Amino acid sequence: ASFNNPLASSWVQVSQYACQRRTPLQDINGIFTDAFEILAENYEFLENKGPCRGFQRASSVLKSLQFPIATMNDLDGLPLLGNEMRTIIEEILEDGKCSRVLDVMNGERYKSFKLFTSVFGVGLKTAEKWYRMGFKTIEEIKSNPDLKLTKMQKYGFQYYEDIGSFVSKSEALAIYEHVREVIWKLVPDAVVTLTGGFRRGKEKGHDVDIIITCPREDKEKSILHNTISILKNQELLIFYDIIESTFDNKKLPSKCVDALDHFQKCFTILKLQKKKEGTMESMNSDSKIRNWKAVRVDFVIPPYKQYAYALLGWTGSRQLERDLRRYANHEKNMMLDNHGLYDKSKNVFLEAYTEQDIFKHLGLEYLEPWERNA
Ligand code: CTP
Ligand code: MN
Ligand code: MN
Ligand code: MN
Repeated sequence: ASFNNPLASSWVQVSQYACQRRTPLQDINGIFTDAFEILAENYEFLENKGPCRGFQRASSVLKSLQFPIATMNDLDGLPLLGNEMRTIIEEILEDGKCSRVLDVMNGERYKSFKLFTSVFGVGLKTAEKWYRMGFKTIEEIKSNPDLKLTKMQKYGFQYYEDIGSFVSKSEALAIYEHVREVIWKLVPDAVVTLTGGFRRGKEKGHDVDIIITCPREDKEKSILHNTISILKNQELLIFYDIIESTFDNKKLPSKCVDALDHFQKCFTILKLQKKKEGTMESMNSDSKIRNWKAVRVDFVIPPYKQYAYALLGWTGSRQLERDLRRYANHEKNMMLDNHGLYDKSKNVFLEAYTEQDIFKHLGLEYLEPWERNA
């Protein structure tokens, strides 16, 4: 075994589940994981789930490694890396690039889907439609009066540059702190938490994710509508779409590892006020004439009893969430979703008030949020 790989000669096994691996933000094997993620994304665009998940899981295994892969021997003992993956790694080790990945990136379908799905409100179905209609650029779609766009897509195009540029951590914190002040004036004991990628330690993100709850039962229910109307009065609200709760406590957690949750939530575009001339981070030339930047912000409002499960679910990463649910299903005979954990052997829901409680119920070592970048 290679000298580089501290695992190769030991008994320590890398788990096939991301929830049994510590995955820091820093990805020292990015040259390989980027390649796998492009292939996974291409399969996602082709709606071919099997190979999509295969490449996502392989990428996630490499992200947890604390050494750079330098030779094929470094892969000894690693799970989920089949011949297809090894061939790609070998080619990148030899050439610094992989022809299969380059072909995908240069493919018309991949390029169009990548571009179209980068617009807020555009999913695979719409991307497919526009691709079949022969559109190639954002401008072509934006300027076509015959296309029926949803309200979300209309705003997605209008603020395409702002929303497409990354949100920095300081921008996310500025929005979070403003929203928290608004909420605390309404409900002083509300719990307001910045979640998503920023809670995992990311320096930049695509949006800002905020969870809101209150330890006093039912007090969380009025927060969202009141907060939205205050943000509206402050003229900070560009777009919002409130989804009311559809939670049914008679139902068991979803079997599907990708199931959406049933919390009340709100997808918004907010104005982030520019503090001083020229100090705004990640601004593009178009938006410099304004004194604000359009930022995507998501709110989710769980009842307090489900807060820990909601926090775990919204902290991500998506791969970690899928593997937590897969692990619960296949290794523990339990069902996990963003609302709770059901033990099928004992026929009970397991209560949790912290994320630590949930890891304990699952018999897993606790992972800090910054160790969940799977
Ligand atoms: N999530 C969810 N239900 C949704 C949307 C998101 O459960 N309707 C979860 C996702 O599984 C993810 C987390 O919330 O784990 C954050 O989602 P998202 O904002 O899309 O991703 P981030 O990890 O925050 O990364 P980014 O910087 O791209 O926003
Ligand atoms: Mn996010
Ligand atoms: Mn989000
Ligand atoms: Mn499923």
